[in-house]
Amino acid sequence: MKDVRAGSEGQCQRKRVFIRTYGCQMNVYDSDRMADVLRPLGYALADTPEQADLVVLNTCHIREHASEKVYSELGRLRDTKAERRAAGGDLTIAVAGCVAQAEGEEIARRQPAVDIVVGPQAYHRLPELLAEAERKLAILRAGKRLPGAGVLDTEFPAESKFDHLPSPQGVRAGSAFLSIQEGCDKFCTFCVVPYTRGAEYSRPVSAVLAEARQLVAAGAIELTLLGQNVNAYHGEAPDGATWSLARLIRELAEIEGVARLRYTTSHPRDMDDDLIRAHGEVPQLMPYLHLPVQSGSDRILEAMNRRHGRALFLDIVDRLRSVRPDLALSSDFIVGFPGESDADFDDTMRLIDQVGFASAFSFKYSRRPGTPGATLQDQVPESVKSARLAALQALLGRQAREFNASKVGATVPVLFAESGRKPGQIIGKTPWLQSVYAEGNPRLIGHVVDVRLIEGHPNSLAGEIVTGSYGVAA
Ligand code: SAH
Ligand code: SF4
Ligand code: F3S
Repeated sequence: MKDVRAGSEGQCQRKRVFIRTYGCQMNVYDSDRMADVLRPLGYALADTPEQADLVVLNTCHIREHASEKVYSELGRLRDTKAERRAAGGDLTIAVAGCVAQAEGEEIARRQPAVDIVVGPQAYHRLPELLAEAERKLAILRAGKRLPGAGVLDTEFPAESKFDHLPSPQGVRAGSAFLSIQEGCDKFCTFCVVPYTRGAEYSRPVSAVLAEARQLVAAGAIELTLLGQNVNAYHGEAPDGATWSLARLIRELAEIEGVARLRYTTSHPRDMDDDLIRAHGEVPQLMPYLHLPVQSGSDRILEAMNRRHGRALFLDIVDRLRSVRPDLALSSDFIVGFPGESDADFDDTMRLIDQVGFASAFSFKYSRRPGTPGATLQDQVPESVKSARLAALQALLGRQAREFNASKVGATVPVLFAESGRKPGQIIGKTPWLQSVYAEGNPRLIGHVVDVRLIEGHPNSLAGEIVTGSYGVAA
């Protein structure tokens, strides 16, 4: 969870917005775009909900726990709103993101303090929605009733939000997200994304290149291309041709100043030959790939409708490693999908053993209303899911520690991103996306610097800056 905090906005702004972001990087990107759309309306960013006139919760629906968190946060906001009103003020509460899309009006029914519910494809309409909420509120006030104003927009409009949202304003610490693709047509049987984000859509090539140039001009040296299925990208080029992700990456690498390129999240089915080759040919493409596999059992992969088996995944890994031997792999795993037997789970453990992951995310299967998985017989008991998750995470944790340890002693380029908690400490990322802590001047933030790695930990490394290496690109 990340909060969009106050930047360098002036003090003279009249209104303040606090945006809380849950879920994936696409939501992080969208939260920034919402801030951009609200800025011309006079909204500066607030550090806390207490300082804000408007609070936006940019929500995630992927697992039950993620969406339930939103309601506890809304309960707290309702109290803040009531206190404000008692003191003659007010607080506008907006719910955005995937819970907004999935639950729509139900949100305002469960928590009447909510004023606006806006789905991920309608953020460019936020100004109208705010104006409408204010109008409704004035009417409600006249009638002395105090619920939320109840404005809803969860349509998938014909126009793309990307054509109507302002372009990014500013880059944090040399690194920027760039959404190039949204939505999903794959319909894995456990997943809500096709319902919350809608059909697959690729932004046109010219829009992506223009945004990339703008981000670089604003100080980005690392671009992370985002999409729910980013490697299914098939954007239209100005000459009418369709570009794949590989083609786009090759073009982005030509932009002067782009030192690092990454993309996430990819699907094994869309790892085409050209994309695999690009990993060996484009030096800016970092040697790290997040490639979710979910399970190592063919039976479960089929039931999940992943549209590939274990063999294809292993083959992709081999081909990637043959063009880029130092490639670090990361993945997502689900344990306890309906019908998963001990033997299926063993297949997953064997796949992990065989591949060796540098990092991973793993989850207990969560039944999501409206998905085919939710109605399957043979749901796995919670205690079995917990035991499998613990075993899987122990193995993955061991692999992550081994991977970090294998880099100790090496000198690697690190892109510094932020100050650490300890005074004088700065934190950055290696090409393999490991976090590195080092003593260094905060002016190195946003730059790539050579660092000697001296100590490996489960989730990070300690390093020493190699003096004289400032300004190294890559
Ligand atoms: N588009 C990506 C994944 C997006 S969701 C892909 O195709 O891989 C991120 C991760 O959340 C998924 O990879 C999956 O591991 C997990 N996830 C999604 N739905 C889930 C559910 N119902 N229960 C548990 N984990 C889930
Ligand atoms: Fe969900 Fe599957 Fe689409 Fe990924 S590919 S977003 S897991 S439906
Ligand atoms: Fe969550 Fe929506 Fe992203 S459900 S993971 S915020 S696409």
